[in-house]
Amino acid sequence: MADSVADRKTAAEQLDSFRDDVLAGLAEPIPAVPARCLYDHQGSQLFDRITRLPAYYPTRTETALLESIIDEVAARIPKGAAVVEFGAGSATKTPTLLRAIAPAAYVPIDISGAYLSESAAQLDADFPELRVLPVVADFVHPFKLPDAVARLPKLGFFPGSTIGNFVPRSATDLLRHFRELLGTGAQLLIGMDRVKPVERLIAAYDDRDGITARFNLNLLERINRELEGTIPLDAFRHEARWNDILSRIEMHLVAVRDVEFTVCGRPFAFQAGSSIHSENSHKYERRGARVLLLAGGWTPIAEWSDPAGDWAIVLAEAQPNRFAP
Ligand code: AVJ
Repeated sequence: MADSVADRKTAAEQLDSFRDDVLAGLAEPIPAVPARCLYDHQGSQLFDRITRLPAYYPTRTETALLESIIDEVAARIPKGAAVVEFGAGSATKTPTLLRAIAPAAYVPIDISGAYLSESAAQLDADFPELRVLPVVADFVHPFKLPDAVARLPKLGFFPGSTIGNFVPRSATDLLRHFRELLGTGAQLLIGMDRVKPVERLIAAYDDRDGITARFNLNLLERINRELEGTIPLDAFRHEARWNDILSRIEMHLVAVRDVEFTVCGRPFAFQAGSSIHSENSHKYERRGARVLLLAGGWTPIAEWSDPAGDWAIVLAEAQPNRFAP
C-alpha cells in the first residue's frame, strides 16, 4: 500500500516536471524539450521495440559484448559489492552482471516507480538470495542510497550509452554527482556508443519501420494527452540529424507547415521548417570517451569493445584526489 501512495506522489511530481520542461523548452529561442520527456509509458514501450530493430545496433551489440567480457569484469569487482544501476534494470543486461559478480545488494534507481517495482519483482524471483533495494528517484538530482549499502564496496552500472543523452557539460556534472553518491574507491561500469559512418547512425535513428518516428512523435501525443495540448500531429515529422562538430545524433520534430497551437492554454507558433529538438545521442571516439570520464572524476582502468569497434564498455574508478604535478 505504502508503495502505491509513493507511486502516486511520484506521478503528480512527474506531471509537474513534464509541464515545466515542456513550457520552458518550447519558449526557448531554439525550442527543445529534454529527452527524458520521451519516456512515458507509451514512449518506453516504443523504445523497447526500437531496441529489437535490426538497424538499431546499440542494445544487441552491448549485450553481446557484456556477455563476452563478463568474467574479466567480474575479476576486477570486489566480493560482496553493492551494484547501483542508474535507470531501471534491463531484463537482459542486468542478470548477466548480477550472475557473474554475485553482489550483496542491488540498488536499481529509476524515475518510474511502477517500472521499478516490476523489474525488482522479477529480479527477486530470479535471484532469491540477492537484496534488491529499489530507489524511486531522478538520478540527475541529488538523492540518498539506502543505509543498508553504506559500508559495501560500490559498483555503479550505467549501460546503454545513456550518458550520450547529456551534453558534455551535463554529462560531466552527472559523472561527478555519481562519484559523490558512490564515494571514493567506487567503480563505474559504463556503456558508450562509438562514432561510426553517418549512414549507419541515421539508419539506426530513422528506421524503415518508422518506430523511431513514432517514438519521437509520441512526445507531441504526450503533450496533447497530459498538458491539454492542441498540437496537430500531422504538422510535424521526425528527423534524425548527424551533428558532426558536436559528435551527436539529434532528433528533431520538424514543422512541415506553419502551425499554431496551445499547451496548458499557452500559445506557440512554429514556422514551416523550424523544429523542436527532442533528443541528443552523443557518439564517442576512443580517447574522447575516456577524457569525459576523467573530467567527471572517474579514472578508466579497463576498456573493452566488440570486434567491429561499434561499442565500448569502460570500467572506471573514483580514485582519491591527488595533487596534480
Ligand atoms: C536510450 C539514450 C540509449 O540514444 O540510442 C533510441 C535513445 N533514441 N532511438 C539512444 C534512442 C532514439 C537511446 N538511449
